[in-house]
Amino acid sequence: MKKILIAYDSKTGRTQKMAETIAQGVREAGKEAVVRRIGEIGSEKELEGFDGYIFGCPTYFETITEEMKQFLFMAKKADLAEKTGGSFGSHTHIGNGPKIIHNTLEFVFGMKMADLGAFNVKEQILDSGKGEEPCRAYGKAFGEKVGG
Ligand SMILES: Cc1cc2nc3c(=O)[nH]c(=O)nc-3n(C[C@H](O)[C@H](O)[C@H](O)COP(=O)(O)O)c2cc1C
Repeated sequence: MKKILIAYDSKTGRTQKMAETIAQGVREAGKEAVVRRIGEIGSEKELEGFDGYIFGCPTYFETITEEMKQFLFMAKKADLAEKTGGSFGSHTHIGNGPKIIHNTLEFVFGMKMADLGAFNVKEQILDSGKGEEPCRAYGKAFGEKVGG
């Protein structure tokens, strides 16, 4: 079974909730989903063995968190070229985070980005409970793009 890693950072839990719900969608597509907080991933070796990678980070001060920057430096050492990639995160107004991750995976890592765009959900939508459906749909669509 194809295996997808969903690795996220989150300070107040919204992007974490997105990660868990995206994982449900990936499983609905018949793929295995592994969800990890980036702080739990100790080395690039732990990134080996997946067919797809979805990295998530909220936007703070119009950028990604310091932890996500450090994680991406580490992930660069893993050979993720040609693997399927995606990005997501929560925000309130200018959600640059997922776009920064998306561009890094595409242009720096050489990954094949799933044609789903950088996936942002506003915190107000998540807090109202209306974010679950789009997150599940994103995960399912991503899972379907990772063939086999
Ligand atoms: C100090 C601070 C700065 C923030 N900066 C931005 C920002 O630049 N752009 C934006 O869209 N949201 C910004 N936000 C909103 C967060 O992205 C939003 O609360 C998000 O849901 C947090 O996700 P998390 O629960 O996964 O940490 C900021 C929030 C705080 C507290």
